[in-house]
Amino acid sequence: EKADIGVTGLAVMGRNLARNLARHGYAVAVHNRTEARTKALVEEFGGEGTFLPAATPEEFVASLERPRRVVVMVKAGAPTDAVIEEFAPLLEPGDVIVDGGNAHFLDTRRREAALRERGLHFVGTGISGGEEGALNGPSIMPGGSAESWEALGPLFESIAAKVDGVPCTTHIGPDGAGHFVKMVHNGIEYADMQLIAESYDLLRHAGGHSPAEMAEIFRTWNAGRLDSYLIEITADILAHTDPETGRPFVDVVLDQAEQKGTGRWTVQTALDLGSPVNGIAEAVFARSVSGHADLREAAHSLPGPSRSAAPADRAASGDEAGRGASADGAEPAAFAGEAGRAALAGEAGRAALAGEAGRGAFVDEAERGAFADKVEKALYASKIVAYAQGFDEIRAGSDEYGWDIDLGATAAIWRGGCIIRAEFLDRIRAAYEGDPATPTLLTTPDFAEALADAQDAWREVVATAVRLGIPVPGFSAALAYYDSLRADRLPAALIQSQRDYFGAHTYRRVDKDGTFHTLWAEDPRTEVTR
Ligand code: 6PG
Repeated sequence: EKADIGVTGLAVMGRNLARNLARHGYAVAVHNRTEARTKALVEEFGGEGTFLPAATPEEFVASLERPRRVVVMVKAGAPTDAVIEEFAPLLEPGDVIVDGGNAHFLDTRRREAALRERGLHFVGTGISGGEEGALNGPSIMPGGSAESWEALGPLFESIAAKVDGVPCTTHIGPDGAGHFVKMVHNGIEYADMQLIAESYDLLRHAGGHSPAEMAEIFRTWNAGRLDSYLIEITADILAHTDPETGRPFVDVVLDQAEQKGTGRWTVQTALDLGSPVNGIAEAVFARSVSGHADLREAAHSLPGPSRSAAPADRAASGDEAGRGASADGAEPAAFAGEAGRAALAGEAGRAALAGEAGRGAFVDEAERGAFADKVEKALYASKIVAYAQGFDEIRAGSDEYGWDIDLGATAAIWRGGCIIRAEFLDRIRAAYEGDPATPTLLTTPDFAEALADAQDAWREVVATAVRLGIPVPGFSAALAYYDSLRADRLPAALIQSQRDYFGAHTYRRVDKDGTFHTLWAEDPRTEVTR
């Protein structure tokens, strides 16, 4: 018997993908550099389907039906090149190598071009959904040639997640298109996580909600328009108590976010493409700030808003549990000092007074529900901006590399399987279907209406955060982007004037065509054409 497809690299992602294929009736050749993993897979899961274990690359390749389909599931970077070099010489023209790792799309372009020379198809594919997705249905974003999609499409469609029966996979475009789209998926993932984290911070330290209460709030949000995997797991996490200490789990986790690099690539690439993804960039920088223990230690004693006790105490406490309303409101808040109450009294009604109940809230007890609703609006509006920016970057990449990526189809395959899966993606799909050429999602009817409805609350939430000294880089970057796009005039006119003044960099005028320079030093009344 021959195998329909082979998987080499049997760490958890590779193993789960192989099992997913086998469970769908495909005969799967399996290979790993150290054979023990191959044996363990067959021993443990052999009953799930047909596995053809191979001890060597030669044996592996010999067991494959032609055209051979070889899925490489190894660590992105040098290991991918090494494995390709090991297998490519054993393959024949028309065979397909698939890289399912998180490769940089430029590496994928290079590999695709090199293998094409040798008559081989190379498919860099994004696979999202983590270990569980790989096993039970991921979102799959393949690049590569149309012929390779013909060879792989039916297999991918059968193992991918389904939404309303539609598989979460499509041929994204040639060469690096698949890995590019996966990269931006991850950039959006970073932004979405940052926005959720800011919502949490505000609910906790401005709203005075305990983690258990917040779990309920996120559950409620998850039943509405924010319904998504990331909101769902946030509720689970906030409801979780650390078994060792009995404290809210979120309070025992070190507050330094790590990253493996795909979010950073999204921003680096956006800079090269001139694509303004400030919301995504702030999410990457926020992780980076959190991880700079040295900077944070050095700046720890800097004061917060002078008339409010909140941020100063927040900084000084150093102890998560001491930061505001703590577990179930049991401990009185550390920062509900007298000064804090006085400070915020003048603000739009009663906004920020600490509740008498001593919960440490800066929002009046009676207003807490309304405040949470405003945070929901700020989150939804900021989320629209972050996704709009990500899709704009995909369009920019598609234009630059000639990929012809269908944005609506991309949104559609993110509805299920992947980390950012959400009903929201169906609204994006619909928006692009309604107006494929729209310059931005922000102006499509559904989102424009939501933004109009949310914007007052959004501004109020950002203003509250700023007043209290709670950092909301994601919310405020998104709002700044929104206000920049809708502005009649931007101060860029002054920047152009400055550039012309000090460097004769020239400017264009609002009232006539052409490029001009003013003779600032000699005679500012003289304008010359350049
Ligand atoms: C996915 C995830 C996956 C990975 C994240 C984590 O789509 O399944 O995005 O690829 O777990 O990229 O990335 P960081 O370690 O950079 O947060």
